Amino acid sequence: DASDIEKGTYPHYMLKEMDEQPAVMRKIIQAYANEAGELEIEADILEALQQADRLYIIAAGTSYHAGLVGKQYFEKIAQIPVEVHISSEFGYNMPLLSEKPLFIFISQSGETADSRQVLVKIKEMGHKALTVTNVAGSTLSRESDYTLLLHAGPEIAVASTKAYVAQIAVLAVAAYVTAQAKGIAVDFDLKQELAIVANNIQAVIERKADLEQIAEDFLKIARNAFFIGRNVDFYVSLEGALKLKEISYIQAEGFAGGELKHGTIALIEEGTPVFALVSQKDVALNIRGNVKEVTARGANACIISMEGMAEDDDTFILPATHPLLTPLVTVVPLQLISYYAALHRRCDVDKPRNLAKSVTVE
Ligand code: G6P
Repeated sequence: DASDIEKGTYPHYMLKEMDEQPAVMRKIIQAYANEAGELEIEADILEALQQADRLYIIAAGTSYHAGLVGKQYFEKIAQIPVEVHISSEFGYNMPLLSEKPLFIFISQSGETADSRQVLVKIKEMGHKALTVTNVAGSTLSRESDYTLLLHAGPEIAVASTKAYVAQIAVLAVAAYVTAQAKGIAVDFDLKQELAIVANNIQAVIERKADLEQIAEDFLKIARNAFFIGRNVDFYVSLEGALKLKEISYIQAEGFAGGELKHGTIALIEEGTPVFALVSQKDVALNIRGNVKEVTARGANACIISMEGMAEDDDTFILPATHPLLTPLVTVVPLQLISYYAALHRRCDVDKPRNLAKSVTVE
């Protein structure tokens, strides 16, 4: 409950919660490590993941965006096919289920009614469910077979920040240990890479002044904004746009770089802010090509790139991060830019109009 959690010297819960993100990463490494210091999840959850021939991730809002990243982990690391569905839509477009499906509900609160109605339905059908949530004892956790906790600590601000990075990190852990249990060769040490992520998030957070300036330069008078990326940067673009919409009320959309030319580019005018993420080496040239296309039409492009693929004129450069884990770092400048854009507009950052922290109606 908000009244129990102190903001301390912070003006907003959202700022406090963004600052907690490095600690949340470290907490997750700790919570999911066994005595030998190796990553581990409960044996029955591991077995359920190993036995599944397909995972169905169900979530809403920011949790859905985390699910899109999680799909990459289960497919690329653990070699399990995954579908990701928006919970409110799932019932209308119920996919043909595989032989041995496992449902994964991602929900910060564990109370989202849209997700719960899917859980009720698939339980009736006799399927198993794993809930990934921040709240032990929440409805989704109680009503599903298994729970993985986020260990993010209470999240009070309506706009989700630390829960998003926690969801992605926990999904990475689950995919990683499943791969190991299946005898699939994994060529990186996730624990070590997550520790690097924690430091990298910290480094971004320490550059708040630069991000405040970016918010001022790019969004002060903006009526709309675009976020573009390819591969996992696209999923983070969706989350970046959602953060900006939620708290600053600036109309924002996230797009796949390659999809711009199929319609969105018509909206680019003189001065339109476009935030481009460049964290994936294999598509860096293509996304930079998209930046050229929009700047040629007058866009004000803010390039957020990663060390190793950065160019001199880039607006903000992120510390090098394992290619699968970049969403944990690329999202942080977008959260902070949204925060400062909302502040400049004197918006109620922690309690945006029309939104609720958890939506318990369908
Ligand atoms: C609400 C919140 C969002 C959140 C979504 C899903 O709409 O405003 O920030 O992402 O619900 O919430 P959950 O608790 O299920 O992750």
